[in-house]
Amino acid sequence: MAPSSWKVEIAVFLAVNTSFLVLFDAFSADRNTSGRSAPMRPGPPRSLDDGRQRLMDLNGFEYVVDSGACDGPRRLTPVLVHSHVGHFERRRAIRQSYPRTELDRLGFRHVFMVGLPSSGDVATDRVTQERLVRESSRHGDVVQGNFREAYRNLTYKHAMGLTWFAARCPRSDYMVKMDDDIAVNLYKLHDVLGRADNRDLAGCVIVAKPIRDESNKWYVSRAEFAGDAYPPFLSGWLYAARAASVGRLLRAIEVRERYFWIDDLYVTGILAERAALALTDLRPDFETDPGPVHCCVLKRQRCDFLAAPTGDDWTLLQRYAEQLTGCKATNSSCDLFRKSKRHHSCLDLWKKKKPLDAAADRIGKPSIEILDWN
Ligand SMILES: *[C@@H]1O[C@H](CO)[C@@H](O)[C@H](O)[C@H]1NC(C)=O
Ligand SMILES: *[C@@H]1O[C@H](CO)[C@@H](O)[C@H](O)[C@H]1NC(C)=O
Ligand SMILES: *[C@@H]1O[C@H](CO)[C@@H](O)[C@H](O)[C@H]1NC(C)=O
Repeated sequence: MAPSSWKVEIAVFLAVNTSFLVLFDAFSADRNTSGRSAPMRPGPPRSLDDGRQRLMDLNGFEYVVDSGACDGPRRLTPVLVHSHVGHFERRRAIRQSYPRTELDRLGFRHVFMVGLPSSGDVATDRVTQERLVRESSRHGDVVQGNFREAYRNLTYKHAMGLTWFAARCPRSDYMVKMDDDIAVNLYKLHDVLGRADNRDLAGCVIVAKPIRDESNKWYVSRAEFAGDAYPPFLSGWLYAARAASVGRLLRAIEVRERYFWIDDLYVTGILAERAALALTDLRPDFETDPGPVHCCVLKRQRCDFLAAPTGDDWTLLQRYAEQLTGCKATNSSCDLFRKSKRHHSCLDLWKKKKPLDAAADRIGKPSIEILDWN
């Protein structure tokens, strides 16, 4: 046998055995804790101080890394950014997007919600985890749960964010949830949150129905969701929730909750409906394509939208924030070319270069069938 295949065999052997060790460790830790403390209460997650807890159907949930972002005398609105644990550069770009002085003035603070590394390679995952711990001790703005990063685990992340907010941010009036590939205008968000007519949850309302084609990767069975249409829900790109609504969402999680993996739909649709929460539709303030961010930065053609996806180019979120902050600092308009004859030129060029994808792709949700979009 060639030496290289020996190496592969040894690597596989080590990987498999280490995984067993990790699994065994997790199980034994569970047993130890449940033997020591009061029996696990099912149902909504309990407060952080209880240590290991139940998060939806995940027994033995705990924070691997925690943040005291809301501690301190100031009343602030935490912006919970759902980020993949490996997205170090995106988090760096978000931290650098708005100056700390501006964030303080507006009352926002970013907090990143991540899961455990899950590359499938033990050594790689260990390096990622060590890097994350260093990042957290440097910035103090990371919350990590002990579930693996996976698209179908995002509902755990979402429930963790709500739980963390409810336990750790008792003075906040609002929380904001966003993804790490969204360019957001925090000046505008600040104004939006100041509006008196905001209802319980505010964001981009989506009306959709389940995909019932069994050959589709995103097929949803009737056991998973029985109805023919989903309740209206908010895009997970960016939404704001009143603090009282977060408590009601958490209490709406049923004791024998069935895990549903489309996280924003589950939280802002299914749970919100159960809790009888009202949605404020901010859809006119959203863009579904990165073009307008690109044109704001390049031509200041239009800069007044609330949020847009950054597509492949996530440096856009930093450049958008810099543009807006620059305009504020000099008290100049960020919409320089808005009324000129060249108004459409940048966006037209953009659209020609990058034809718009299907509506579902544009809002980053391949997993639902969107009805009545645009
Ligand atoms: C198990 O619990 C005991 C206390 O009851 C503690 O001393 C010990 O460190 C725990 N072991 C683990 C693996 O957590
Ligand atoms: C979700 O996280 C759990 C707990 O870490 C893990 O066992 C499971 O494999 C993850 N799901 C997926 C689809 O990776
Ligand atoms: C900025 O512009 C607004 C409206 O034009 C004006 O009311 C305000 O006083 C200006 N602020 C500064 C610091 O120049």
